[in-house]
Amino acid sequence: MADSAKLILDGNEYELPIVEGSENEKAIDIGSLRAKTGYVTIDGGYKNTGACYSAITYLDGEQGILRYRGYAIEDLAEKAEFLEVAYLIIYGTLPTPTEYDAFKSEIRHHSIIHEDMRHFFDGFPSSGHPMSILSSMVCSLSAYYPDSLDADPGDDLQITRLLSKIRTLVAFGYKKSIGHPVMYPRNDLSYCGNFMHMMFANPAEPYEPDPVIVKAINTLLILHADHEQNCSTSTVRLVGSSNANLYAAVSAGILALWGPLHGGANQAVIEMLQEIQDSGGDYKGFMEKVKDKSSGVRLMGFGHRVYKNYDPRAKVLKGMADKLLPHLKVNDPLLDIAKNLEAIALEDPYFVERNLYPNVDFYSGIVYRALGIPVNMFTVMFALGRLPGWIGQWREMMLDPGKKIGRPRQIYTGENARDFVPLAKR
Ligand code: SDX
Repeated sequence: MADSAKLILDGNEYELPIVEGSENEKAIDIGSLRAKTGYVTIDGGYKNTGACYSAITYLDGEQGILRYRGYAIEDLAEKAEFLEVAYLIIYGTLPTPTEYDAFKSEIRHHSIIHEDMRHFFDGFPSSGHPMSILSSMVCSLSAYYPDSLDADPGDDLQITRLLSKIRTLVAFGYKKSIGHPVMYPRNDLSYCGNFMHMMFANPAEPYEPDPVIVKAINTLLILHADHEQNCSTSTVRLVGSSNANLYAAVSAGILALWGPLHGGANQAVIEMLQEIQDSGGDYKGFMEKVKDKSSGVRLMGFGHRVYKNYDPRAKVLKGMADKLLPHLKVNDPLLDIAKNLEAIALEDPYFVERNLYPNVDFYSGIVYRALGIPVNMFTVMFALGRLPGWIGQWREMMLDPGKKIGRPRQIYTGENARDFVPLAKR
């Protein structure tokens, strides 16, 4: 492989170094481009631009491969616990039994939130979207834990506090939205079991989390735990690059994830399936609308910037839906509609030519619905899963000795210099 690329500009020839990753991905390092040539590059949506080096997640969009620190997502989803995967993503190795016990004990210890923060929920309208509430509450943690303002990647306490308390913030927000009293954490339960308890228990009757559902939540969170430099993770890195604290960076990541083109797609998929069902179930007619550009209709949960093959997470989620719904005695007609849409898309040239396959959001909503999670909380569930990825990527960036504040350039297209015209003369 050549170790540099030649660029010929304005009659001059420049050498730009070529770099290669551990999975043979290659890039042209343009770090010196502007200094050497006066030119910058432009790349809408950063489709061809690498923002960083990272050792956390590897994606192969053509082959549909996803690995966290070298471990295949299929293996982790089947064999690991979510907290093990969180430790792996954040610290780089699967924890030893001693490390794992210490990590779980720390997480257990920090599940409660400051009692004053509980009163914040009284100020939000019960109809408020859970993503706006979650982002506000996560950012507020930096008001209650000023030691986090140092943005010190070596401070594990700020990390375990966030990993633990996010469950409590999500569940308290849910209880507020349905007018039920909040359920305080039960630290005798597992990470996901405690979350289920805070979400679905109520003081009027005994509650023990169903182990099948706890396993399903573990798997759902693992599937969402990281995905290299997606929109929300890049947001966390950019905000964190100014040395804003971890809670501020994650709060911004939550807001980026909210968009329907990103994590908000899981809510948009269910709304799309529900609309098809409510209008008579004509999924073939719907697909014709999707193919007609002028309709502005998109097949939500399909397509991906990186995957030009079946998203491996969608495969696991589809299998999960097939197993979990019968166990829960749930017969969801939206699952049949989803499968019919997929069957058309996998054959139809419009989708095949554009490499449009189901992504992580296409079946996840069906599973969340079966678990009794309300539609407007689906993206909050995505955030719960993605948190270790945001933390791990922030920590990797902050520990990088070559770290710089993110500050892209632009090509100006506005007015050239002109004199100010006083109001009386305009
Ligand atoms: C996530 O980046 C990540 O890793 C994200 C994520 C993660 O784990 O963090 O994987 C999670 O965000 C998954 C994506 C969830 N979003 C959706 O399901 C929304 C629907 N999908 C799209 O809007 C779209 O596919 C994107 C946003 C996901 C990707 O968009 P791109 O890469 O910018 O592709 P594009 O919009 O340029 O589309 C290319 C072509 C276009 O047609 P042409 O102009 O070539 O004729 O494909 C078409 C698009 O119109 N197209 C679709 C489509 N997605 C793309 N047509 C119909 N339905 C769709 N869903």
